[in-house]
Amino acid sequence: MPRPPLESFRVKQAEEQLSTLRSSVICAFNQLLDLKDLNTGVHSTRLAEWGLRVGQELGLDEAALRNLEVAALLHDIGKVGVPDAILKKPGHLDSDECALMKKHPEYGWAVLRMLPGFEHAALDILHHHERFDGAGYPAHLKGAEIPIVSRIVAVIDAFDAMVSSRPYRKGLPYKEAVRRLAQASGTQFDPAVVRCFLSFAQDEMATVFAAAGPAADSSVLDLVTGVRYGLLVTDHWYTRVLDPRTLVVTGLTRNGVWLIEDGEITRPIRNLRFTQSYPQALAPGAVLGVGAHAPAEVAGWGLACYAAPALRLAGWNFTGGASG
Ligand SMILES: [Fe+2]
Repeated sequence: MPRPPLESFRVKQAEEQLSTLRSSVICAFNQLLDLKDLNTGVHSTRLAEWGLRVGQELGLDEAALRNLEVAALLHDIGKVGVPDAILKKPGHLDSDECALMKKHPEYGWAVLRMLPGFEHAALDILHHHERFDGAGYPAHLKGAEIPIVSRIVAVIDAFDAMVSSRPYRKGLPYKEAVRRLAQASGTQFDPAVVRCFLSFAQDEMATVFAAAGPAADSSVLDLVTGVRYGLLVTDHWYTRVLDPRTLVVTGLTRNGVWLIEDGEITRPIRNLRFTQSYPQALAPGAVLGVGAHAPAEVAGWGLACYAAPALRLAGWNFTGGASG
C-alpha cells in the first residue's frame, strides 16, 4: 500500500538527514586523518571510488554500498589511537609495536559504532585486515565469513599500502603492486574481489599514477622532462596570505605532489606545507619554464574561475609534512 504523503515526506526527510550526517562524519574524520598525516594522497579517494565500483559490480545493495563508502574512506581511522612513535617509526616494527599497530581495526570499530547508523560500517572496519585464508586479524575469519565490504576494503587498503611511501621505504610502482595483488588472490584476498578490482582499475591506473589535473596537459609533461630531480605540485588544498605587503603565503598541498626523477614522474608523495613569498618565487631568473596552456580552474568558492599556466620554478619553500 502506498505511504500517505506526509509519512513519505518525513521518511525522505529522515533519509536526507542521515545522508548529510554520513557526509559530515566522513569529512570530519578525514580532516582528523589529515591532521595525523594518515591520508596517503591521491590514492585514497580514487581507491574508495574503485572500491564502490567493485561493490556495484558484485551486486551489493544500497545499504551495503553506503557502508562501503564509509569503510573505504575511514578504515584506518583507528590509527589515530596508535602512538606517532610507532606510526612514523623509520624502521620495521618490533613485535610489541606490531601488536599495537594491529589494534587499529578495533579502535576504528570502537569509535564508529558509537554513531547511530554507522554500526555496520564499524563492523566492516573491524574486519578489514582479515585474510581470505583465515590468517588475518583480529577474528581470524575465513572466506565468506568475512563481511563482503571488509573483503573489498582489504584489497583497497593493501593496494594503497603497497603504492604509498612510508618513512622507511618507497612506495612500489603500481605495476608491481598489481602483480602482488594477483599473486595473493585466494590466500590473502577474495579472488572475486581482486578480479573485479583489476578488471577496470588497471586500465585507469596509468592516468592516476602518472599525475592528476594540470599534468594531463602535455606542456606540463614537457616541463617535467627538463627536471632531473624535483617535485611536481598539481593541487593546493588551501593558500592563505600571511603578509599582504610582501605577498608571503602559507598553505598545504592535497593529493597532488609527485616526485620527478630524471625527467619522469615516478611516484606520488605525501602532502606538504609551504610558506613562500610569491615575488621571490617568481623573481627574474627563478622562473625556468612556463607551460604552453593556461587551463581554466574553478576556484572552489562560488563561480570564480582563473586561468594560469604551469610554471617550472627554481625553488619553493616547503616547510614540512601535513602534520608539522
Ligand atoms: Fe588498516
